[in-house]
Order: sequence, then C-alpha cells, then structure tokens
Amino acid sequence: MSDHLIWGGCDTVGLAREYGTPLYVMDEAELRSRCRRLSKAVKGRNARVCYAGKAFLCTAMARLIEEEGLCLDTVSLGELYLAHKAGFPMERVTLHGNAKTEAFLRTGLEWGAGTVVVDSEDELRRLDGLCAELGKTQKILFRVSPGIEAHTFSAVQTAQKDCKFGVPLAHLERAVKAALSSPHIDLAGLHVHVGSQIHDTAAHFEAVSRLTQLLAQLRGSLGFEARELDLGGGFGIPELPGEPGTPAEEFISQILDRVDSSCEALGLRRPEVAFEPGRWIVGEAGITLYTVQGVKEIPEVRTYVAVDGGMTDNPRPQLYQARYAVRLANDVNRPVDRRAAIAGPCCESGDLLTADTPVPELEVGDVLAVPLTGAYNYSMFSTYNCALRPAVVFANNGIARAVVRRQTLEELAAGQE
Ligand SMILES: Cc1ncc(COP(=O)(O)O)c(C=O)c1O
Repeated sequence: MSDHLIWGGCDTVGLAREYGTPLYVMDEAELRSRCRRLSKAVKGRNARVCYAGKAFLCTAMARLIEEEGLCLDTVSLGELYLAHKAGFPMERVTLHGNAKTEAFLRTGLEWGAGTVVVDSEDELRRLDGLCAELGKTQKILFRVSPGIEAHTFSAVQTAQKDCKFGVPLAHLERAVKAALSSPHIDLAGLHVHVGSQIHDTAAHFEAVSRLTQLLAQLRGSLGFEARELDLGGGFGIPELPGEPGTPAEEFISQILDRVDSSCEALGLRRPEVAFEPGRWIVGEAGITLYTVQGVKEIPEVRTYVAVDGGMTDNPRPQLYQARYAVRLANDVNRPVDRRAAIAGPCCESGDLLTADTPVPELEVGDVLAVPLTGAYNYSMFSTYNCALRPAVVFANNGIARAVVRRQTLEELAAGQE
C-alpha cells in the first residue's frame, strides 16, 4: 500500500511531479455525482439547477455541466466566452452581474443567452436599447435585495437592504412596469441571492416568503404573473475536513415545499424555480497541491512552512478569514505532532494559507495537499508578484488529464510592449 494521498483515484505525488505545483486537482467523479444529486432533487418539481460558473469555470467544466444537463450562470464576457467555446447551449445560459458591460450584454444577445438577470433600471434601459437595435426579445428576471441578512460572513451577504446588488424594492414596481411596456423585454419573474456559505435554510425560507409576497403585490398592482422565481445559490461546504457539510438536496426539497405552500396561500400560480449553486458542486471535489520550499522555526514563537503558492491561487484566507488544513501528500502516515503556519511566497506577511494548523514534521520537497479548495480558488487566481496560473487536473477514477495547463513565462509577458 502506498502512503501517498490518493485523489480521484490518482496518486497526488505523481500528479505534482508530472504537472508541477501549485496544482489544482478536481475529482471528476465527485463533480458529476454532485450534479446528479441536485438534478435528482429538482426532478419532477418544476425547478432547475444553474451551476454558478464563478465558483470554478474552464472549458472542461462547462462541458461537464452541459453533459450533466444543468444550466450555467455567467457573470462576465470571459465566462460567457468559455461557455461558448465549450459548445455550451446558449439557451441554458444566464447573464448575471451588477455592472454588465455593453460587450457582455451584446454578445449574450447575439449568441442567444436564455436569460438576463437585470440588476438595475439603467441596465433595463440599456438592454432594451440593444434588443431594439438587434431586433430581439430577451427573457429577463429582475434581481431584488429584499433586506435579508443571511447567517454568513458579511462580505458574502448579498440580499441585505444596503447592498450593491439588485433593484431597490422602492423602485421595483416602476421597473416592472417599464419592462412590461417594452416589446423587446419578456419579464419572466424575480431573482434573489441571499449569500454564500450558508448552512441552514432560514435565509432561503425568508427569501421565498418575501419574494412570493412581492409577486402577489405585483400581480395585484400591475396584473403581472411570474413564470419563474430564481432563488440563487449559497449552499455551504465544510471549511475544515471533518466539519459537517450541507445536505443541499434536503434543503432544496424543503425550499421547494415552502414555495409550493407560499404560492398556494397567496393564490399564485407556482413559478418554475431556479437554484444557482456554485460552491456546493465544486468545493469539496477540489484539493490544491504545494511543494515545501523551506521550514523556519522561530523558537517559542511559531514555525513557518514556506510553500510555492498561497494568496495568488487561494485569496480566501485574506478575503474571508477562511480556515484551511493541510495533509502531507507524500506520507499520509507521518505522525501529526506539531503545529505550524503555512506561508505563501508573496511579499506580504499576511500571505498565509493558515496561521496555525496541525502538521507532521516537514522538510523541503514534501508535497502538501490543502483540501476543500475546489470553489473560488482557481477562479480567484491573481497575478500578484507575477505568479503563473497553476494547472488544473481532472482526476477521474485513476485517470488524470490537465484540463488547464500551467501558464508559461511567455504567456505571462504576452501582449506587453
Ligand atoms: C447571483 C449568484 N448566484 C449564485 C452564486 C453562487 O453562490 P454559491 O457558490 O455560494 O452557491 C453567487 C455567488 O456569489 C451569486 O452571486
């Protein structure tokens, strides 16, 4: 028996050697299994699942999402382009974002994106003008921020009243009226995203209650009857191995029950419901591999283990005070008998993957694996200190393929004078 860490059926030390570190490794079977679990949860319930590409997107991931039959949310021209390049069916694509550029909207319209989630009255006017120019009618939802405070880190709360996202409630009726009066806009319903890394159903239940009440009001005042209700994403994952995850299928089922009962109570026709999970689909399927570059013990203070990646491939400790643990990939049996900080190479004292975590004795050349890094790691990569974008490997029952190869130095300098 090898004492190496196996991920997706592959020897992670072999992967580190072949593709270099830092390296993102996604367990493909786990990704597919999560898509299927969610598809099953919405089956027969007049609901759909739209994977939020911002959590992790590359052409291989877009293809996987298409093969698994989910829809796809994009928030930029870049994400839309990757989906298009992967051959993703555009009618299953949604455009999101609070500051959509003309290029993003125009390209989405030209390629036939199924839905635009409109974030403001200005965006509605701009979209309407583009539709008129292109001779198109576009299906839209209005995003609203109904004043819900989800139990999560404040930077990932997205539906409170004071928030950059969504049409303010005070102006919703005016926006709906404008949309209904345009021949180029097909208003299908409302959207809300309560936040991210949420571990209970309270905020989603509140969102259902607020949004169905809003739909009842709009029906009363404008005769508008919604066909769709998008409840966003947000299902959480464990931060550290051993912590509980979120039973997303159960949550979805309970939230759909709430939609059914709220619509019934208000006499509303039950709209099709959309969920937009990102993190829950990819977060637990991904690990990141690093190579130890040095071990520095400061007596009676702390031991720093320097590795070849950090805040450029995973900025979440700095952005969200996210916690991470490490495993020794080249010897899973070495006793974990001390503590250390795992430090990245950036010229920032705060470039730490973790300031204090249990570790075994470590030395130069050891390969460390950081679990639970499949979501918002690769997609949040930055080029600070001219870091090269790491490769991404899909490991599938013992067979590995690089779906994104490591950036080269030539690519780093590409486009520069
Ligand atoms: C509109 C919208 N939908 C879905 C998501 C996905 O959230 P999560 O990855 O927490 O499921 C986000 C995340 O920011 C979002 O803003």
